[in-house]
Amino acid sequence: MEFENITLTKEIPIATIQLNRPDVLNALNHRLLSELVFCLEQLDSDDSVNCVIITGNEKAFAAGADIKEMAEADTIDMLSRDSFSAWDRIRRIKKPVIAAVSGFALGGGCELAMMCDIIIASETAKFGQPEINIGVMPGAGGTQRLTRAVGKYRAMEMILTGGMMSAGDAAKSGLVNRVFPVELYLEEAKRLARLIASKPPLAVKLAKESVLKSEELSLKDGLEFERKNFYMLFSSEDQKEGMKAFVEKRDPRWKGK
Ligand code: HXC
Repeated sequence: MEFENITLTKEIPIATIQLNRPDVLNALNHRLLSELVFCLEQLDSDDSVNCVIITGNEKAFAAGADIKEMAEADTIDMLSRDSFSAWDRIRRIKKPVIAAVSGFALGGGCELAMMCDIIIASETAKFGQPEINIGVMPGAGGTQRLTRAVGKYRAMEMILTGGMMSAGDAAKSGLVNRVFPVELYLEEAKRLARLIASKPPLAVKLAKESVLKSEELSLKDGLEFERKNFYMLFSSEDQKEGMKAFVEKRDPRWKGK
């Protein structure tokens, strides 16, 4: 697939996908989302890549779904476009994905950042769910993920007023892992990606899967799920290698098997 609306840079063992519609603040149109999903799925099955970053530019991570593409649509148009199947596929990516956010992360842009596993922000980042201002409401997980991230009261205020949250407030509220000056946020996201990419890939995937399950399962079911993944890793060569290397006081050499 030729990419028109994203760019992909591989710096093995990490890869960075840059959303690339700067003229419209990276508004997420159908084409961009298709390219993003295609690229993420390719990277998910690329053994040379262990961690992925999604970023935008200094002014915008993404200012939401493309309003011009939706403005004339009716319910049946929206249903038949089925854009949410792309979002569902992003949710199924097994490798860790870091959002490196600067500028606007609004509507679907905020929802895309929240679908990532870690959010690194620049000091200029602004998060919001402004759909209420255009007569709708969040549709790609905003009411659920924002509420889980920042709590009911802050989420309710953001979603009902359409107001934006600064990077600093987002970090205090638990929506963002860390905030850096704008010149540094992408490099810091890459530093973190390289650190995660240096860990045993199978354990990373199963740990990610287990953490995400905590959003869906009761504590009892979540603990059982975690335990099964824990046991499963004892079939991996990396478990043998990791524990042997510890005992022999040397660095482990991961195989991803
Ligand atoms: C289409 C958009 C856009 C969007 C910005 N642009 N956001 N185009 N869809 N979501 C375009 C503008 O039309 C303009 O194009 C150019 O980008 C620059 O934007 P300006 O408004 O001139 O910039 P500025 O004055 O700096 O204001 C920035 C902004 C504002 C506050 C972010 O652009 C804004 O409010 N955007 C909409 C944000 C929003 O409502 N997002 C939620 C969308 S609904 P031209 O051609 O005029 O230069 C959604 C639902 C998701 O996300 C559900 C899942 C599918």
